[in-house]
Amino acid sequence: MAALGVGLLTLLPVCARRSPVLRPSHRLLSRPGTVAADVRREEQSSGSVETGSEDQTPKKRFSEVQKERREQAQRTVLIHCPSKISEKKFLKYLSQHGPIHNHFFYESFGLYAVVEFCQKESVASLQSVTRTPGLGTEAAIPFRSRCFSLKLRSPSGQPSEPARVPCNSQSPPSSKKLFELLCYAESIDDQLDTLLKASQLTEENTRLRYLTCSLIEDVAGAYFPDCAVRPFGSSVNSFGKLGCDLDMFLDLDEIGKFSAHKTSGNFLMEFQVKNVPSERIATQKILSVIGECLDQFGPGCVGVQKILNARCPLVRFSHQASGFQCDLTTNNRIALKSSELLYIYGALDSRVRALVFSVRCWARAHSLTSSIPGAWITNFSLTMMVIFFLQRRSPPILPTLDYLENLADAEDKCIIEGHNCTFICDLNRIKPSENTETLELLLKEFFEYFGNFAFNKNSINIRQGREQNKPESSPLHIQNPFETSLNISKNVTQSQLQKFVDLARESAWILHQQDKDRPSPSGNQPWGLATLLLPSVTNSLSLAKKKRKKPASERIKNLLESIKSSGAEGPTDTNGKRTVSTQA
Ligand code: GTP
Ligand code: MG
Repeated sequence: MAALGVGLLTLLPVCARRSPVLRPSHRLLSRPGTVAADVRREEQSSGSVETGSEDQTPKKRFSEVQKERREQAQRTVLIHCPSKISEKKFLKYLSQHGPIHNHFFYESFGLYAVVEFCQKESVASLQSVTRTPGLGTEAAIPFRSRCFSLKLRSPSGQPSEPARVPCNSQSPPSSKKLFELLCYAESIDDQLDTLLKASQLTEENTRLRYLTCSLIEDVAGAYFPDCAVRPFGSSVNSFGKLGCDLDMFLDLDEIGKFSAHKTSGNFLMEFQVKNVPSERIATQKILSVIGECLDQFGPGCVGVQKILNARCPLVRFSHQASGFQCDLTTNNRIALKSSELLYIYGALDSRVRALVFSVRCWARAHSLTSSIPGAWITNFSLTMMVIFFLQRRSPPILPTLDYLENLADAEDKCIIEGHNCTFICDLNRIKPSENTETLELLLKEFFEYFGNFAFNKNSINIRQGREQNKPESSPLHIQNPFETSLNISKNVTQSQLQKFVDLARESAWILHQQDKDRPSPSGNQPWGLATLLLPSVTNSLSLAKKKRKKPASERIKNLLESIKSSGAEGPTDTNGKRTVSTQA
């Protein structure tokens, strides 16, 4: 097709040179309306569960969302644009290749456009008229991807356009901004809701995540044509925060299926393959090759690290065009199933995500979690703790995993590597909870519950929704829901757990105090959730620890006790009885 337009598209130069991993702050220039005939606007934030988490419309199954998003990403291209561009002409130029369904702009080391065509063929048409750049003294590796660079034929001849289109940020709000938002909220419930809305993944950010997986799939597909690269973890489980990493896995199952394909007659045809001593070595070899390809040919893939000796071998890299820090593993089907389970829990009750986001944010504010692996509690573990806590309410807000398994149909049956991963996939068939407790109460009770949890003898188990004796001596034991002999928080040390307990008790105490003497919401006075995020809470704790003979945990425990004995409502178990376990 003739390329008579404002610009000239060239495939982005292949990143054969290593450049430093930089995390840009994004500016999103969103333009959901386009020249497409059939434009369906999707204004909802895709951080939430797709379609109707609050209304009565049926909620989509996780597998349906994955399928739709994947297909959408395959019709999408990523274009690096000149900083001054006429949007109208840009779209007109591209629509020579077919109608455009949706598009948006964002900033990440320059201006980028994400353009979704209505048909996949349009991408091939665009590629067919795109040239590989000649770089003068440097040589380009002619890799034909879906990452393009749009050049202006004669920049001086372009009409002057507004330099910047009004934009939203793709990064989470700054602590200062978040603090302001929280201080102006009307109630603690409103604060939790505000935090969720300000930090959850946006529709555009979700599209960009699926597109990035799809672009990586193009690279891996050169070796394994039937592979799929699927996102998992917080990018898809509805608990993702803007700026979170992009976990993805290379799914080679489709390739395996062909070998099981039935052939007629007496013959059975097999591919000749190389054998290696174990599954782990096969994984390491595959990831090593894909890591090399990403490093050598992957447009925008920088800082590629092959971490092949980890318990779960992975390739870590930064996808510069999208700004995502990516972790690529292989055949991580159990993790995908965990993501689906969390997606279901997040969809069942609107309080779940609000509480998880606040607890995660609180933990991050006090350095209980970290982006660096170590002795810290992970976001995944914190989410499990919130789910467990909500299963323990009376009446329960969330059902147990055993209950979800009992509701499963034959089509839901799922065994992965011998582990039972069966649970109901149609969330519309799960009865909503009758519990009407407010977020404010739940947040306070969460801190009290875990501030007094008998971590020394009990394990957290969302499968059964009740405490169980710890099968091993790790300070914190949270049972892996599918690989039930594993502890997902084995890495957490006693001192980190103690820090969590101390902070939980202090936070419960602060909320109790504010209950008695609530300041009126105002923009300059921290209150409610905002107070809990103040670093001074931690500082005062560690200072107090140094200064006082009595440990802070003891002090706060005594304060809590005195509040309870003076008539304030204490924590209750599921039968409504007071529970004041003092072991930690
Ligand atoms: P973020 O901190 O926002 O990235 O949350 P996340 O849920 O994506 O966590 P992370 O990137 O650490 O891990 C990605 C996914 O891997 C999780 O959602 C889980 O499905 C799985 N996962 C993480 N940690 C563990 C673990 O210790 N055991 C098991 N079985 N799975 C884990
Ligand atoms: Mg993650």
